[in-house]
Amino acid sequence: MGENIIEKALLGATVFKNEETLHPAFVPPELPNRENELVRLSHTFKSLLNKDGAYAVNVAVVGKPGTGKTVSIRYFGRGLEKAAAKRGIKVRFEYYDCFMFRTKSAILRDLLTERFKVTSRGFSDEEITTMINRRLSRENIRLVLCLDEAYLLGQDLLSLIHGSEVAKHGQAFISTLIACRVVDWQNTLSFPLSGRLHDRIDMPAYDQNELYKIFKYRSELAFHKDVVTDEILHMVANIAASTQNARHGIEMLYLAGKAADRYNIRPITPDLIRRAKQEVYSELRSDVLYGLRDQEILVLAALTRELKAQKSSSTSIAKVYERYQLICEEFAVTKQALPTFRKTVDALVTLGIIGKVVESIGTGRRGRRARLTLMDIPVEVFHERVGEILQRRQSMEDNFD
Ligand SMILES: Nc1ncnc2c1ncn2[C@@H]1O[C@H](COP(=O)(O)OP(=O)(O)OP(=O)(O)O)[C@@H](O)[C@H]1O
Ligand SMILES: [Mg+2]
Repeated sequence: MGENIIEKALLGATVFKNEETLHPAFVPPELPNRENELVRLSHTFKSLLNKDGAYAVNVAVVGKPGTGKTVSIRYFGRGLEKAAAKRGIKVRFEYYDCFMFRTKSAILRDLLTERFKVTSRGFSDEEITTMINRRLSRENIRLVLCLDEAYLLGQDLLSLIHGSEVAKHGQAFISTLIACRVVDWQNTLSFPLSGRLHDRIDMPAYDQNELYKIFKYRSELAFHKDVVTDEILHMVANIAASTQNARHGIEMLYLAGKAADRYNIRPITPDLIRRAKQEVYSELRSDVLYGLRDQEILVLAALTRELKAQKSSSTSIAKVYERYQLICEEFAVTKQALPTFRKTVDALVTLGIIGKVVESIGTGRRGRRARLTLMDIPVEVFHERVGEILQRRQSMEDNFD
């Protein structure tokens, strides 16, 4: 009987025509509302198609979360490779998410070993760079190194870009295409990169109408006919417009579709969307938050307040520690000394609730400093949650005395 249940669930009717098209890495055949940005990227990269020599460009794409930076650069990469191939020019577009490849060395090694299938063991970064350049030159391949969340590379980013700056005229085989959120751009990249880029393309945030158009298109790719009504699309666009983040809408549609299959509901109802919204916008399961220790909650409260005050996506440990001390006074709790505080921070990092990135750009001789972030969770949502828990705990304690 057990097998039958499984088989039924696996093979049963589904609202999805093509579920994979809602996965984060999927690149759709069209990108509504990004036509201008794609045209501008194409103009900037035109010199790569020059038959007389290899001319590299360095370009940055900057925008708020969920404005389509990642999907646009991948989409562009495919188009560029194809258009070049038609003209008999070899262009290779290699995408790196710097969350996964955090150093120049990691990228160079992967490039050589995984993408060019040459062993990199035992070679220095300089030797690998020479090997890659020689290979590109011999085979006349123009490489576009695409670095998503490039700010995570710190100083390494500059040395990757530097390669194309020092290459001989007509001999520059490596271009870079950088993508970065606007806060990270302002905090870490805009100064060191000024004057070194051929273009910076700003991705404007989507408004509600644009989001509606995007979700309509994505629903048509993902769902069977009549599963997602126009009313639902407007509802999802309306919710996502509050954060202007296309990802939130796409996740809501995906989760609502999954729930529709689970409970066998057709078409998708507003109630399914409301439930999906809860999941998407809390992004962090509430049971994890409620299970935290008091000191951990206080550190989170300090971090969210600081990020909100700075309107930034990352901040320094020192700043959070200052805020933390104020909050401890506010709630009349004993403060942890800095070393213990750091341990609490590390515990939260291990739990995946806060992120720690090491920044080295612009810090000069003072070396690498850690900056704290809240992964991908909107600060407003987080702020509310943590505030709620703090309040609840305090009122519980009040009841005790
Ligand atoms: N114009 C568009 N047409 C279709 N889908 C889009 C469009 N813009 C964004 N999306 C989809 O919205 C989601 C978020 O886009 P993407 O990941 O590219 O955003 P991002 O700007 O890179 O965000 P982040 O800063 O968080 O990395 C993805 O699923 C993407 O496919
Ligand atoms: Mg992205």
